Order: sequence, then C-alpha cells, then structure tokens
Amino acid sequence: MDPLLLVYSLSFCLLWPVKSDVLIQGPQNSQPVNDIEIYSIDISSLVTSRFAHNVITSKAVNHANVSKEAIFDVDLPKTAFITNFTMTIDGESYPGVIKEKEVARKQYETAVSRGQSAGIVRASSGRKTEKFTVSVNVAAKSIVTFELVYEELLKRQLGKYEMFLKVQPKTLVKHFQIEVDIYEPQGISFLDAQAPFITNDLLPTMKKTFSGKKGNVSFKPLLDQQRSCSNCDTTVLDGDFTVTYDINRETPGNIQIVNGYFVHFFAPKLDFVPKNVIYVIDRSSSMSGQKMEQTRQALLKILDDTAEHDYFNFILFDTRIEVWRNQLVKATPENLSAARRYVSGIQEQGATNINDPLLKAVELLNKAHNLKEVPERSVSLIILLTDGQANTGESNPSRIQENAKLAIQGKYTLYSLGFGYGVDYAFLEKLALENSGIARRIYEDSDAVLQLQGFYNEIANPTLVDIEMKYLENATSNVTQNNFKQYFDGSEIVVAGQITDNNLNYFTADVKAEGADKSLNYSENVQLQKEDSVSREQAYIFGDFIERLWAYLTIQQLLEKRVYAGPQEKENLKAQALELSLKFKFVTPLTSMVVTKPEEEEKEQTIVADKFVDGQSTDFAIPVPVRSYAAAPVIPAQHISSFVPRNWVDSDPHFVISVPRKNDALCFNIQEQPGVILNLIEDQELGIAVNGELIGDKTTENNLISLKTYFGRLGVVNKAMNLEIEVTTETITILKGNNRTTFSWSDKASINSDGLNLEIDEDKQLKFSFGEGATFVIILHKVWKGHSVRRDFLGFYTLDDDKFSKGVHGLLGQFFHGIDYEIYNIHATSDPNKPDATMKVKDKLITVTRGTQRDYMNGSTDDNKVPCWFVHFNGEGLIDGSHTDYIVEDIFKIA
Ligand SMILES: *[C@@H]1O[C@H](CO)[C@@H](O)[C@H](O)[C@H]1NC(C)=O
Ligand SMILES: *[C@@H]1O[C@H](CO)[C@@H](O)[C@H](O)[C@H]1NC(C)=O
Ligand SMILES: *[C@@H]1O[C@H](CO)[C@@H](O)[C@H](O)[C@H]1NC(C)=O
Ligand SMILES: *[C@@H]1O[C@H](CO)[C@@H](O)[C@H](O)[C@H]1NC(C)=O
Ligand SMILES: *[C@@H]1O[C@H](CO)[C@@H](O)[C@H](O)[C@H]1NC(C)=O
Ligand SMILES: *[C@@H]1O[C@H](CO)[C@@H](O)[C@H](O)[C@H]1NC(C)=O
Ligand SMILES: *[C@@H]1O[C@H](CO)[C@@H](O)[C@H](O)[C@H]1NC(C)=O
Ligand SMILES: *[C@@H]1O[C@H](CO)[C@@H](O)[C@H](O)[C@H]1NC(C)=O
Ligand SMILES: *[C@@H]1O[C@H](CO)[C@@H](O)[C@H](O)[C@H]1NC(C)=O
Repeated sequence: MDPLLLVYSLSFCLLWPVKSDVLIQGPQNSQPVNDIEIYSIDISSLVTSRFAHNVITSKAVNHANVSKEAIFDVDLPKTAFITNFTMTIDGESYPGVIKEKEVARKQYETAVSRGQSAGIVRASSGRKTEKFTVSVNVAAKSIVTFELVYEELLKRQLGKYEMFLKVQPKTLVKHFQIEVDIYEPQGISFLDAQAPFITNDLLPTMKKTFSGKKGNVSFKPLLDQQRSCSNCDTTVLDGDFTVTYDINRETPGNIQIVNGYFVHFFAPKLDFVPKNVIYVIDRSSSMSGQKMEQTRQALLKILDDTAEHDYFNFILFDTRIEVWRNQLVKATPENLSAARRYVSGIQEQGATNINDPLLKAVELLNKAHNLKEVPERSVSLIILLTDGQANTGESNPSRIQENAKLAIQGKYTLYSLGFGYGVDYAFLEKLALENSGIARRIYEDSDAVLQLQGFYNEIANPTLVDIEMKYLENATSNVTQNNFKQYFDGSEIVVAGQITDNNLNYFTADVKAEGADKSLNYSENVQLQKEDSVSREQAYIFGDFIERLWAYLTIQQLLEKRVYAGPQEKENLKAQALELSLKFKFVTPLTSMVVTKPEEEEKEQTIVADKFVDGQSTDFAIPVPVRSYAAAPVIPAQHISSFVPRNWVDSDPHFVISVPRKNDALCFNIQEQPGVILNLIEDQELGIAVNGELIGDKTTENNLISLKTYFGRLGVVNKAMNLEIEVTTETITILKGNNRTTFSWSDKASINSDGLNLEIDEDKQLKFSFGEGATFVIILHKVWKGHSVRRDFLGFYTLDDDKFSKGVHGLLGQFFHGIDYEIYNIHATSDPNKPDATMKVKDKLITVTRGTQRDYMNGSTDDNKVPCWFVHFNGEGLIDGSHTDYIVEDIFKIA
C-alpha cells in the first residue's frame, strides 16, 4: 500500500511561481487527507544593514491513528546560505549538521551500504530559487516542528533592496504569519510590500510601517481570511510576497563596526559616465525562431534606452563575423535610427564562432581609444550574447578564454549572457569573471526580452570608474574585494573586514575613483566607541551580523575567484572557503547539511542537503539541469499501450524497469569503460547470476573515440545446476560440469535437458529458462558488416521476474519485486516532449525527465517505443548505492 502522503509546500522567495501538480498522493477511498494538519506557519525575517536572517517555522499534527508522512518543502533564494535546520518530533530534536561535502557523502554512502535509507536533496526549483525538502514519518497523534534558517546579503539593484518570499501553504493554516523587521542605521527612505494574492479583504491583515532606522512588515491572515471563497477549503495564499526598500543617502558611504568587524557601504549619487558598448551577438542557426526575434526586440529596446553621450557598435557572428560599422558610433538620433534598421534585419545562419568576434571587439575598442574616437572619461564594455558553444574557428573553450584575457588586458569589462540551455555556462562564467564582468543566464521563455532589458538597465548608467577603497593598512585584515572596475547607478559597493587594532579611536576609509568629469576622493571617519549604545541598538536584531556578513561576502568571493584561478590557487581558495563555511555554519557549494531523521521501526534515515550550483559541477555534485518553469504542463497521456511487464537492458546500455502497478516505466543509462563487467542479476538464494561485459564502438580512422558502450558478452551462472552459459555476439557456449558445447548464433537449436530449456532462433534471439524459473531472452543486434563504427551487440530481457527470491539484487534484479515512486511537480523544459519532474523514490527526491526507450523484443519498429521516467547520472538515487558498486571482475562472478 502506498503510504498516504501529504505534501505541503511553503515556498520562500522567487519571482516565478512554481506549481506542484501532484500534491496529495495515495489510494482512493482512503482516510481524509487532513490527517496531517499544518496548524502553524511562521516566516520571520530580520534584516540588519542589508543582511537578512530568515527563520521559517512550520508545525503539523498527525490526527490519524497510524503514522503518516509529512513533507517540508521550501524554496529559498539561490544566493542564500542555509545555516540551520531542526526537526522536532514529540519534543525530541533532530538537528541538521553542516559538514564538509566529502564527509557528508561518505556518511551517505555508509548508510546506503548498511542498507539504511538515505537521500540527497539538491534541486534547482526556479530561476532564482532552490528547493529544500525533507519528509518525515509522524507517529499517530504526534506533532512535528520544522525550523529552517537561512541568511543572505541583500543586493541593491536599480535603486532598491528586494526580498521576496514565496508563499504557498497549499492548505488553510490556523496560525499563519509573516513578519519582517528591518533595521538600517542610515535610515529607511521607503518600504513596500506586495503580493498578488492580497485582495481588498486581505489588505487589513497586512501592515507596513517605517520610521527612522526601523521598518516593519507583517501579514497575519486568519483562517477564514485565507479561504479562496467563503465556503471553500482551499487557500488563496499562493504567490510572491515581495518586500522592497531603500535607505537614506545623505552621505555617499556608511561604515559600521561591531565586535571587531567593519562593513563599508558605498553608493554615491553622481553624474553618469559615457559608455562605449560593443554588442557581440550570436546569429548562428541555433538562434533561429523565437530566440532571434527576442534578441532583435531586446536590442531595439536597448537602443531606445541608450543615452546620447554613449558610443556603440555591433558585431554579429556565426561561422564568420560581421561588423556593423568600422568604428564605434555616437548614439545620436540618426545613428540610432540606422542601428534600428540594421538590428531589424539580423538573420540567423551558420555555426558558432565565439573567438573571432571577441578579438574583433577588443580591436575596435583599442582603436577607438588610441584614435580618441570615444571620450577619454568613459567606460568600455563588451556584451556577448550566445545560445551555444563555439563549434567553428577556435573552438577550444580554454583557448578562447586565454585569447580574450590576453587581448583585453584588464582594460575593458566583458559580460556574457547565455541564452537557453545549449550554452556552456561554466565557460561563459569564467570568461566574464576573468575580465571583471559577470555572466547571466537568459531563460528561454516569453519574457526573455525583459530579462535582456533588465540586465542592460543594471549596467546602463556607470558613474565611477577604477574605484579603490582603502582602509587603515596596519589596523585591518582579511578585507574583502576593495577594487572595482566601475560603479553603476542604483547598485552598491560593499566591503567588509576585520579590525586588528584594539586601541583604535578612529576608523577611516579613503575612496579614490574617476568620475564623469574629474577624479574623486572620499574620506570617511568613524569614531570607535566602547561597548556602546550603537552596538546595543544593533543587537536589537542580532549581534554578530557584521561578522556573518563578512563571512558570507568572503565565501562568495573566494568561490567566484575559484572559477578562474589556476589549479594550485584553486585548492587554496577552496580550503579557505571551506574553513569559513564550516566555522560560520553555511551550506555552500563546499558543504552539505546532514539530517538524521527517525524512520519507522527504530530505523534512521540520512538526508544530505546540498547547495545547487548553476553550470558548475562541484566535487561530487550531480549537476541537476536548471530549467525554466513555464506554466506547469500536464504530462502527455503516454501510457504503454499494450503493457508488457518486463525489465531489460539494451543498446548503449539503457536499462528499462517496467512498473506494472503504475502502467509506466523507469529508465537509466550506465556510462562505463569498455571491458567493464556489470552485475545485472544476483540471486544468492537460487544461486543464479547474470553479468554483462561492455564493448565500445570501433575506433574510426581519424581516431574519434565514441563514448558509446554496449554489451558484447553476457555470462549466466546457475550454481545449483553447475551450469555456465557464455553468450557473445558470435557464439553461445554452455558449460555443464566438464561438458562444453558451443553453438553459433546462426544455428537453429533447442535443448531441453536437466532443467535447462534453451532455444536459439538463428541470428535473432536466444531464449532460456531453468526449470520452473524465470525466462530470459537475449537479442542479437547485428549491424551491417561494413559499418565504420558500430559493432554487433546484445540486449538482455527478463520475463516473469517474480520467480526470483526476495533477496535478488543487481542492476536489474533489485527491481524484480517492484519499485515504488511518486512523481511531483511536472514542469516544462525547452523540449515540450521531455518535461522534468521531481521523483520521490526510496525516500529521496531526484530530478527525472520524461523520455522513451525502444523495446526490441518484437523487432525494432517505432510502435515498440516505451515511455519512461529517465533517471540521470547512472541511475543515481534510483539504484541502490552507486553504479560502480555493480562492477564485478569476472563474467561468471556470483557471491
Ligand atoms: C483507526 O482509525 C480507523 C478509522 O478512523 C478505525 O477504523 C480503526 O479502528 C482505528 N484503529 C485503531 C487501532 O484505533
Ligand atoms: C539551530 O536551531 C536550533 C533550534 O532553534 C537551536 O537549538 C540550535 O542551537 C541552532 N544551531 C545553531 C548552530 O545555531
Ligand atoms: C511589527 O509589527 C507587528 C505587527 O503590527 C508587531 O507585532 C511588531 O511588534 C512590530 N515590530 C516592531 C519592531 O515594530
Ligand atoms: C553619428 O551621427 C552624427 C550626427 O547625427 C554624425 O555626426 C556622426 O558622424 C555619426 N557617426 C559616428 C561614427 O559617430
Ligand atoms: C604599516 O606597518 C609597516 C611595517 O610595520 C610600516 O612600514 C608601514 O609604514 C605601516 N603603514 C602605515 C600606514 O602605518
Ligand atoms: C585573517 O587574517 C589573519 C592575518 O592577518 C590570518 O591569520 C587569519 O587566519 C585570517 N582569518 C580568516 C578567518 O581568514
Ligand atoms: C585625492 O587624493 C590624492 C592622494 O590621496 C591626491 O593626490 C589628489 O590630489 C586628491 N584629489 C582630489 C581631487 O582631491
Ligand atoms: C553435453 O551437453 C550437450 C548439450 O548440453 C548434450 O547434448 C550432451 O549429451 C552432453 N554430453 C555429455 C557427455 O554429457
Ligand atoms: C510480441 O510478440 C509476441 C510473440 O510473437 C506476442 O505474444 C506479443 O504480444 C508481442 N507484443 C509485445 C508488445 O510483446
């Protein structure tokens, strides 16, 4: 029986709604779904000097007289670090412990190898959020409390700080409240809070106040006020709760000091510096259709927003490059009109050459500066937009990075925009970071124009160039980045560090920078006070925030530097970032949080929660593809028309596990080297094992090595019958005791003796069974003899699996007695036929993708394609342990 599962989702922070389709799973005619009642949700945010400390507390009670499972499911900002998680069940606390990633991984593996249940939580759930999910069994009549804490430094963009909480309780909640308290020493200049679900009826339940240094937002709808209509049991609370504010800017900067740490905020209001922009735009064939149209529209909007003092040019690239004008052009109305005509006419064609247009852009900027075609006081930017990876010209990514860095020599800033999922995001990120820019992902969606325009707006108005922030040399240490190439209006520079001199009376900061028409000097002085009222006032929120802010910023910057550092320095940066992550208890890409939670029958489960990293596969991270979440699609009704329950492995090796009770199937691939032998079935009780050896493709003339592998040899052993069968693509050999008989695949033979039933269907398939046991079928795939790459290979199919013992294992065997799973949150990807979803299997949550696999048992027509949920990364999460646990040294190996 499926356990009655109640999932409630409380999503915190994002701009884009994530819809869960499947919320309440379970057998029909079962007990009422509100056996588990969520009776309290409390979201509390304390923000001190831009540093936000968020606590989400949720309480549920199981009214049923049997244990039920509840899932705590939160979406938090990707920029945040989780710092604590605690589960309390009937007064007993189960805390999350933050550990080095490798250590957490070992703990996970140990739990798996002991046969305990274990899981890894790592999922991106939207553009700006990642998901944290824990499920727990709640005993009859028991209460569970979940408490999640995360922290983040709010970034000022376009003149405001924004914090968004996504609220999605999915059910009516007796005590629901959001409380945001802000303390800003410079004084708050405006504060707002919005949510689409706040109707006139709900308006009185939201309070927004600010005065002086304090701001306060609270939202406490009563149970009846949460109803979507007066008689409904559904909740109206579903959407983004966004808090925005800004602070007074009487001085350009502000320094705060608490407990030996300082933070310096710097956001002056100044005249704009002209900018020289070269738009390097991908018009290769892959941009065809909507992406190209959106790019044209975005460029037209950007031209509308370009200030007359700016200079610009376009370089379009495909296999070759096309430069619009041979020099940068001033943004006069006439030149802008000409540019609009040019942009409207951009047509896609050819392959992707990234190297040459970048070098050309640098050449144009060098020339413009040398010939003084552009103002001396100006900012020069290169904006690269691509939807793919370099595949013509210089296509080695490291070479392109090297070339760009050498050419730019730190003089210009390079931004890279990766449009869609065809890009190598790690490449774009390194390319940008090495040249003082940033990379941004543009999600392939209807709002791509707005995303591109939004990015442009952030960098539209530079006001300072070459900013140097200086602090007392001998009185400070561990200062975060303090040199910046430019400052854009509406943003903010933040520098933090330690004060090493305890006897300091004054703390000073000097800022030097180049403005629109002159060099600028700022000097700031703060008198240091002893155990003073100021720090006590700040402790109003929480005392050590500057220290944590410093640690947060330092870790972010170390991780960023790691992207482009050399191998030696990489290790060094990693070690420093890891030390800080552990010391300050942050779940960063280098650490994981391990939660050991109670299971039924006194068992335990180990859950490892990892941070999601876009485009970067950290040491053992499984990079889960981020996808844009369009309106949640309904999975196409692709049931298996004439469902034949069998499990098999065929082609390069694709494993297919049929799940009759769901009239569906699961599938995964195993990627290993030729020569590796994998255990498919091992039944120690019956003494039967099946192993398969991988072969690769032929090596082609130009030595192209294909990654594809197939089964070229299968070994079957039956200990009780003292029998071994070896099947290659040429022969079938039966060894019974000392009696060896070899058949060729071209034979038509049949054996029926001593419990072995075997039948060779010439050059097609081999069918065999042992006594009353299960039947196996091996399919011979013969390729055309002259095929340059492919070799003959084998497919292996099992019928009537229930004839194996309960303990049967192996890559296929472990599924012979059924596998249970639930699918949630089906969402669209760039391929409409391949939506992603979250699968809950073996108490883990993994990302799966809808796909199809071919069943060759009745020939290879398209009718025999079987839809299945594809599990990525060698079936990790679905199979017990890791795929390497199934590697054996001998084709007849049996334990
Ligand atoms: C549990 O509850 C169900 C229905 O609410 C009832 O039929 C059953 O007898 C109860 N069992 C116990 C042990 O109380
Ligand atoms: C985590 O939260 C729990 C529950 O509030 C608390 O007891 C514990 O001290 C916290 N741990 C840390 C490291 O702050
Ligand atoms: C914020 O507002 C809420 C609700 O009005 C109130 O309970 C709380 O005390 C306020 N906090 C501050 C710091 O004013
Ligand atoms: C741009 O337009 C202005 C006048 O509208 C013109 O003088 C100038 O030569 C044009 N070209 C460049 C390269 O600035
Ligand atoms: C800092 O200390 C070094 C070595 O003691 C000294 O040479 C230098 O002048 C000091 N700098 C300042 C700004 O005091
Ligand atoms: C801070 O800097 C000092 C040297 O000035 C160094 O010894 C210490 O380890 C640093 N602390 C951290 C946390 O990086
Ligand atoms: C800024 O300070 C530097 C030395 O710190 C000095 O040489 C320069 O003249 C100053 N500039 C202005 C505009 O005050
Ligand atoms: C050897 O095996 C073959 C087929 O399995 C069988 O036909 C033959 O009789 C066996 N010979 C002996 C000596 O057992
Ligand atoms: C395949 O062929 C077998 C025998 O020819 C038949 O019984 C079976 O229904 C066919 N279809 C499938 C999907 O296996």
